[in-house]
Amino acid sequence: MTTSLSYYDQVGGAPAVRGVVDLFYVRVLDDADVSPYFTGIDLARLKRHMVVLLCSVLGGPEPYEGRDLAEAHHGLGITAAHYAKVGEILVSVLREAGVGDDVLRHVVLTLDSVKPSIVAEPVGTAD
Ligand code: HEM
Repeated sequence: MTTSLSYYDQVGGAPAVRGVVDLFYVRVLDDADVSPYFTGIDLARLKRHMVVLLCSVLGGPEPYEGRDLAEAHHGLGITAAHYAKVGEILVSVLREAGVGDDVLRHVVLTLDSVKPSIVAEPVGTAD
């Protein structure tokens, strides 16, 4: 059996991604370690941007129009441990939605590549 569907089509397109993102934020806000970061944040807007970002990461047609990830997370002081936790929540929600291993691998690689833009760890050099 072969398939030439994009990751986006494999997962079920925008409606499936919206479902994943809804559940993702339910879990994130339910997690006592990471929920404080989201106090006072406009969740509807955040979800909208996350849906479009995830769609475009998966090869969908939606152009991402939110802020650059480094800019959006600047000053939040996100630790590597909290980043890992949020990444795990995203991967587990995708897995529960029946997303295949090749798509999950692509998401995990993308998470690794954007990590330096989001995590606020000291870089270990002066200035
Ligand atoms: C795992 C990878 C992550 C991705 C792909 C991601 C993606 C996004 C996106 C698309 C936005 C919206 C940008 C905009 O509104 O223009 C955003 C904002 C935000 N993210 Fe993340 N994020 C990630 C990890 C995290 C983590 C680990 C935390 C905290 C533990 C976090 C906390 C926030 C907060 C608080 C905002 C809102 C900032 C504001 O509106 O001022 N994010 N993120």
